[in-house]
Amino acid sequence: MTNEFSLETLAVRAGQDRSKFGEHSEALYLTSSFVFDNAAQAAARFSGAEPGNVYARFTNPTVTMLQERLAALEGAAGCVATASGMAAILSLALALLKSGDHIVASRSIFGATQQLFGTILPRFGVDTTFVHAGDLDDYANAMRPQTRLVFVETPSNPLTEVVDIASVADVAHRGGALLAVDNCFCTPVLQRPLELGADIIIHSATKYLDGQGRVLGGAVLGNREITEEVFKFLRTAGPTLSPFNAWVILKGLETLKIRMEAQSANALALARWLESQPQVARVHYPGLASHPQHALAMRQQRSGGAIVSFEVRGGREEAWRVVDSTRMISITANLGDTKTTITHPASTTHGRISPEARAASGITEGLLRVAVGLEAVEDVETDLARGLAQV
Ligand SMILES: Cc1ncc(COP(=O)(O)O)c(C=O)c1O
Repeated sequence: MTNEFSLETLAVRAGQDRSKFGEHSEALYLTSSFVFDNAAQAAARFSGAEPGNVYARFTNPTVTMLQERLAALEGAAGCVATASGMAAILSLALALLKSGDHIVASRSIFGATQQLFGTILPRFGVDTTFVHAGDLDDYANAMRPQTRLVFVETPSNPLTEVVDIASVADVAHRGGALLAVDNCFCTPVLQRPLELGADIIIHSATKYLDGQGRVLGGAVLGNREITEEVFKFLRTAGPTLSPFNAWVILKGLETLKIRMEAQSANALALARWLESQPQVARVHYPGLASHPQHALAMRQQRSGGAIVSFEVRGGREEAWRVVDSTRMISITANLGDTKTTITHPASTTHGRISPEARAASGITEGLLRVAVGLEAVEDVETDLARGLAQV
């Protein structure tokens, strides 16, 4: 199933491979290995001369169904599913890069990605230059002859900075590098990076693709040449997605579009409400006209997404009061769930960075991040209003 069908149809049906039993819902194949008719077939399957399943470190029909569905949604020729979002990013780096290569990455990427690029890959001779997410000159100036990969995440977490994918793709391509976009916050429902010129998409399927906070998963998508290299790495190194998790995520994808649209609509309503609260100094949400990159966001995304950050007047004490006054919203750093979550980045996700570096990247002591879920937005507002009234 390809682009002759619309996204909502692909999300429900793409990739399904029905067994001889004629099951309507996708089957979950819990088996670590597959049997062959004879020795010659075993040899042909191992060598790749005959397509088919061999061993679940690198082939499983449930995982294949997920890969095909996700590839259809992103408009990608290939997809390799991985055990987590970080496993996807590690697999991409180890499959495509070698000692001496260089990465240019936006500074506002997920903390573990920063750690991977900044402290682990340098031990293997791969260095990264971090640049300001929204500054095109910064990307161009950071490019070196050895730059093989440019890596961005948009909108960023937690400040919702927007990266101009088409322009950064130009910079990367002019320098002979590939552009990878972590599309975890928008998903293919709101943003299609390959159509904007990116070469690779990364997903943490743990977030909106599952959408209900149940399992870890990840994926690398791109053209066949790229995903073949990632597949070869995965086959040998084994950061593989379990079939059970693949099955849960497949079912999650079926409701992705309606969840993303409803959660984004809730987020926009919440952002507007927060802007009208006197105790809130600033709201960061790409769907608001006050967002400095609102026009760019509305060009490359279908809506503002479901993550809203805001700065409470005062500092840590006032922000914590808002968090501690919630009765319904979950206090957790995870996001992409139907349940709304709240976190104080300066003391959690960004707590290990020095106060100076935190301040430089705009993570103030009063900043709170809300990942908006599917509850009635009025209930989310009531839950936050209780704490704001005490600021
Ligand atoms: C934008 C982004 N990318 C990647 C990851 C890593 O994904 P995982 O937790 O599935 O390894 C996360 C996790 O929070 C994330 O927010």
